[in-house]
Amino acid sequence: MDTSAMWPGAAPDRAAALAQYRSRASFYDFELALFEPIRQEAISQLALRHGDTVLDVGCGTGLSLGRLQQEVGPKGRVIGIEQCPEMLELAQRRVKQQGWSNVTLLCTPVETAAIERMADAALFHFTHDILRSPEAVANVVAHLKPAAHVVAAGIQWAGPWAWPVNWFVLPVALHSTTSLEGLGSPWDKLAALVGPFDVQTRCMGAVYIASGVRGKPKALR
Ligand SMILES: C[S@@+](CC[C@H](N)C(=O)[O-])C[C@H]1O[C@@H](n2cnc3c(N)ncnc32)[C@H](O)[C@@H]1O
Repeated sequence: MDTSAMWPGAAPDRAAALAQYRSRASFYDFELALFEPIRQEAISQLALRHGDTVLDVGCGTGLSLGRLQQEVGPKGRVIGIEQCPEMLELAQRRVKQQGWSNVTLLCTPVETAAIERMADAALFHFTHDILRSPEAVANVVAHLKPAAHVVAAGIQWAGPWAWPVNWFVLPVALHSTTSLEGLGSPWDKLAALVGPFDVQTRCMGAVYIASGVRGKPKALR
């Protein structure tokens, strides 16, 4: 594997990300089971309503789709965006097996995704590479309605004093991202376009949940 993209400051590497997730797809759901409470908390913070359109950015195998489609209901829509065909195939299988008719899946890099409608909310769950891509973040934000809810969750460097925790963060990051750039505040490119984020930490600071509202205070939504 070419590790040059992992040098501090290097941008995400699409070819490396495709290879990384191609090889992880078959056991990915098992690996992510530990973080299920984070997923549930992040989705709760989206404050979805029936009829909403929500973007599941970097949807992977579709682990968030069940709850998202339930919360937006039959008149709402979930749009999952994922560049790795092997990951998306598992998401497609899930959608078909469950008969979810309100889910659309796009097999494309987020940077160039043709998002068909403006969204009320966007979820970035464990998507560090996407959050560090200015083009990907800009494309998503361009398809958010004013006052859309945005939640990003994933791993981050714990404080510099917390080196034992960071010894856990480092291998997880090397296993699941192609860039360590921005691991101190992964949501900051998103916040620069959306507005201020409320950031909470879990797992002794190794995991963040950052949520914000595009442009307007939540009360006006
Ligand atoms: C750690 S997985 C998270 C999947 C899902 N959000 C979850 O919570 O289970 C990160 C996903 O982002 C996808 N990804 C990375 N960079 C991407 C990009 N630029 N465009 C689309 N998908 C991307 C990867 O293929 C992978 O499936």
